[in-house]
Amino acid sequence: RSLVAVRAEAQAINPEIRKTEEKVVDSVMVAELSKPLTAYCRCWRSGTFPLCDGSHVKHNKATGDNVGPLLLKKQKE
Ligand code: FES
Repeated sequence: RSLVAVRAEAQAINPEIRKTEEKVVDSVMVAELSKPLTAYCRCWRSGTFPLCDGSHVKHNKATGDNVGPLLLKKQKE
């Protein structure tokens, strides 16, 4: 591997999730929410991606980063 390829890999925030796709995009129709709270991963370390599994805590501790999930909250009627 070239040094450029190694540097690009080192800088990528997504180390392994759905790398066969050109761009990872997920969408949710908010009206479809059945639970009061759904957490979506933004650290790319979740074992249940696109949902947050709490892996950001370990990532933040190891790297000094400060990432956290996107929370979708069901609006009360
Ligand atoms: Fe990635 Fe929580 S596991 S934001």
